[in-house]
Amino acid sequence: MNARVSRPIRIGLFGAGVVGEGILRLLEDNAGAIERRMGSSIEVRRVVARDTGRPRSSRFDGLLSFRPEDVLDDPEIDVVVEVMGGLEPAGEYVRRAIEAGKSVVTANKALLAERGHELIPLSEARRVDLYFEAAVAGGIPVIRVLREALAADTVVALRGIVNGTSNYILSEMRERGLDFAEALAGAQAAGYAEADPTLDVGGGDATHKLAILATLAFGADVRPEEIATEGITEVGAVDIEMASRFGYVIKPLAVGAARPDGSLDLRVHPALVPEASVLASISGALNVVVLEGKMLGPCLLSGYGAGALPTAMSVVSDIVDVGRNLVFGASGRVPQRAWRGEHLARPPIAPPGQHECRWYLRFSVLDRPGVLARIAGVLGAFDVSIEQMVQEGRGGGSDEPVHVVMLTHEAREENVRHALREIELLKGMVARARALRIEAGA
Ligand code: HSE
Repeated sequence: MNARVSRPIRIGLFGAGVVGEGILRLLEDNAGAIERRMGSSIEVRRVVARDTGRPRSSRFDGLLSFRPEDVLDDPEIDVVVEVMGGLEPAGEYVRRAIEAGKSVVTANKALLAERGHELIPLSEARRVDLYFEAAVAGGIPVIRVLREALAADTVVALRGIVNGTSNYILSEMRERGLDFAEALAGAQAAGYAEADPTLDVGGGDATHKLAILATLAFGADVRPEEIATEGITEVGAVDIEMASRFGYVIKPLAVGAARPDGSLDLRVHPALVPEASVLASISGALNVVVLEGKMLGPCLLSGYGAGALPTAMSVVSDIVDVGRNLVFGASGRVPQRAWRGEHLARPPIAPPGQHECRWYLRFSVLDRPGVLARIAGVLGAFDVSIEQMVQEGRGGGSDEPVHVVMLTHEAREENVRHALREIELLKGMVARARALRIEAGA
């Protein structure tokens, strides 16, 4: 048992951007309800910012500091809240806060995914809490569900759309016929994108989130570098249109599944999902996570994965949880990663080449006799069987390339990749072939 705290819970905040401001607003607007729920009030002692020149809202008046020590060395601060993002100096501040015996609430998925395996055991050893609900899918309470609500179940699979920027871009391309750059600019203007949008569109942000989700879901110490990752940058307007002709929508997915042999299947990539599926209906910047419990069956959580107030809501709810623990002197009661640290496993991660699914393949070819037969021949040689096919009619004469799109039966990924490498060398091919998975069970 830790000592009980019977005064206001005092917090120090790192990060005075839009989420930091959202946290101050929420604490002010909901102060009464929070106190009635937690049994104590929350007092913000200090907000540490980096950028001295940036204009800020009057909510920060009297709270701002530019010295991390004002939070880290203040013995009266119980909880350090980190919403500045990035690995450093955020990682250093979180580590120093834990070492100083303070609980931490963070929204930093990169930090959790990359350094959680060091920081979480440190917090457990110091018997302080390290909570991170806002790090995955912003305002959606998926961490809490995995950590607490499903404590009696075995998660067998999870499928999600956890990068709002990518979902927004693909939705805008589909619904409004925008090109990739226009849709990305829209996502940035709406404040969904990371400071470096390659993390969003390249899949890295979703990979960080999947590493965290898979750790909690499967009791496995999953690292982001173990996850096969593909971004959405190669999805063209033509793919969105062709997918639609076959009754599919292209979505940016994060998938984790426990395989019968004990290994984990972990993937981040765009995929075709049926138009009538739940995943297809989650549009714009919305996120979704569908958990599949062995006992529970499917459980769907959807909402805003970014934005100042949804993210602030998750952060402040974590502060309330930590505060409840402090009020009762019970920090460290719930394992941060859902499983007691000594029981986390390191199961093998299935090589991506072993994955089997149906495929969408697009070839740009010259419309000449024999081209199609040669493509089909190579696919057949690699045991990839064609299920359906469409060829776009000739546009501007016989020298104009045409798109040939094929949907395959289930085929092993390594066979598809080998076949595509051979097909690219064939006469009549004018551009690299594109391959997208068709997600079963979506
Ligand atoms: N850039 C992230 C997204 C925001 O687009 O989902 C919150 O993680």
